Amino acid sequence: MKSIRPEDAGVRSFYQYMTSAIAPRPIALVSTTDRSGNINLSPFSFFNYVGIDPPIIVFAPNKRASDDSYKDTVLNLKEVPEAVVNLVDGNMVQQVSLASSAYEKGINEFEKAGFTPVPSLAVAPPRVQESPGHLECRVLEIKEIGSMSLVIAEVVLAHFSERILDSKGRIDMLKTRWAGRAGGDWYIASGRESLFEVPRPAKGIGVDALPLSVQRSAILTGNELGILGSAAELPDQNDIRQYGYHALIASFREQTQGACENFNELLHIRVKELLAEGNVKEALLAAFQSH
Ligand SMILES: Cc1cc2nc3c(=O)[nH]c(=O)nc-3n(C[C@H](O)[C@H](O)[C@H](O)COP(=O)(O)O)c2cc1C
Repeated sequence: MKSIRPEDAGVRSFYQYMTSAIAPRPIALVSTTDRSGNINLSPFSFFNYVGIDPPIIVFAPNKRASDDSYKDTVLNLKEVPEAVVNLVDGNMVQQVSLASSAYEKGINEFEKAGFTPVPSLAVAPPRVQESPGHLECRVLEIKEIGSMSLVIAEVVLAHFSERILDSKGRIDMLKTRWAGRAGGDWYIASGRESLFEVPRPAKGIGVDALPLSVQRSAILTGNELGILGSAAELPDQNDIRQYGYHALIASFREQTQGACENFNELLHIRVKELLAEGNVKEALLAAFQSH
């Protein structure tokens, strides 16, 4: 492992490590207005949904490295504490990147990036029509630490395009293509090919409840141990004993003639196969034959 102290790496270099390691980050395309109604639009990937009740999002413009000045978004929010977070999908990233150019204050990035403004219902800044989701927000607090202005805002109204909804009006993840920012100039767009489900166990038995030889298996991966450890309960002792008479297990025993390591190897390969078939129950019974 390479160990790095921020003060040794320097600000720029540590930023590169962090933005490449904490990735992908969701992107907020934030619209704001100043007191005179001039519109601004800028992307921020230091962004997340952090509070449930009330619904709270945060994003963090940092001062410009060139002259330590506040970005226009922060200047606007100090005048009008309202914003729309327009959510970003893979079809918008080139325009989003264009909107991040250092245009002078008062320049409308909707026009520069070619986005269409539509009026909001609860706040002054307009929404981006092309975005599949809009969060109308009231700013609660701007917390300043060093170069960062952490904007803490409450979502007062959310809009989601029909094109990402299922028949019950909920967001269908398979219809989304959310974009995320990674290190350097890299982006990620979610989609069918990159989405996978991991059911959350109520309270799994834990990897530590598995036989030690399974925990230390060179054949089973961390993910496979995670699936076994997520089982709601340990297999019944009788079922484990019974499974020992299974023809395949008996044949492993015969093939390996008491050589424990060889037996475990065959067994762990079988556990792997059963997990690949989605048969967790039998995989557990097989795992508990391990010596
Ligand atoms: C995808 C993307 C994400 C960005 N995220 C941030 C961020 O989280 N914080 C930040 O200070 N700048 C970020 N930037 C840079 C700002 O968007 C850029 O400085 C912009 O010009 C600020 O605009 P403003 O001065 O109009 O507010 C990001 C740029 C891009 C393209």
